[in-house]
Amino acid sequence: MADEPLPVPADRLPRHVGIIMDGNGRWARSRGLPRGEGHERGADAVRTVVRAARKMGISALTLFAFSSQNWDRPPEEVFHLMELLRRYLHEEREEILENGIRLVSVGQIDRLPAHVREPLEELKAASASNRDMILCLALSYGGRETITAAARDLARAALRGEVDPDTVTPEVFERFMESSRLLPPLDLLVRTSGEHRVSNFFLWELAYAELHFTETMWPDFGRDDLVEALVDYARRERRFGKTSEQVAAVAEPAPAEPAHGGSAR
Ligand code: FPP
Repeated sequence: MADEPLPVPADRLPRHVGIIMDGNGRWARSRGLPRGEGHERGADAVRTVVRAARKMGISALTLFAFSSQNWDRPPEEVFHLMELLRRYLHEEREEILENGIRLVSVGQIDRLPAHVREPLEELKAASASNRDMILCLALSYGGRETITAAARDLARAALRGEVDPDTVTPEVFERFMESSRLLPPLDLLVRTSGEHRVSNFFLWELAYAELHFTETMWPDFGRDDLVEALVDYARRERRFGKTSEQVAAVAEPAPAEPAHGGSAR
């Protein structure tokens, strides 16, 4: 539920927004600062954007906070990012619980160090009955890795005789994707820092999402940038493979037949 006037009509608001938070390093370098400072300011931007999204009534927000490939960064940078996550979970705990936010995660969280995994699991459990917004952290997350895991689970289910391979459709497969159990369909992907890639994020979920790219570096991303993305999204016509005319016909149903004397066709 929105707490403030909406920048777009409520029925044009995306239910689920995913953000690839990019540009922390370049933000720092352009200021002569160490990369870590960019991540620190990036964590501040996370706080701002989560708050703004909740106030605007967005149902679900997924933040790509650490990819499966980010483990290959220098150990001191990985350590710093883990420390930022630990701090975030500690410092935002009350705000998350008091504001009706349900925390969930996607990704291989068993790879996270205990000092991140344990508070993450604790806050996920403590916030499980919250209903105002889902905040999903994509951690140790890769789109290909997730699809592969779903394929493995599906193969196991088939071996147990629970699934007939001939009946596997995209809808059946999707039931094995962790995101489908936790989140509404992805409506809008935002990527910051001027890069035009999806970088192994939500590969399955992106099939019909709208894409919004901005030059803003993640540490500078704030409420106004989120509003700009929402306004851009609200202008889009989502056709899901249909024609404009078909979409318009669903949006504006044909006038009702007259009660008497109308044609039965
Ligand atoms: C990409 O910027 C950003 C990341 C790999 C990490 C994102 C992490 C945060 C925003 C902070 C911690 C998160 C939470 C949820 C508290 P980059 O380092 O690749 O930037 P560059 O492309 O400019 O080098």
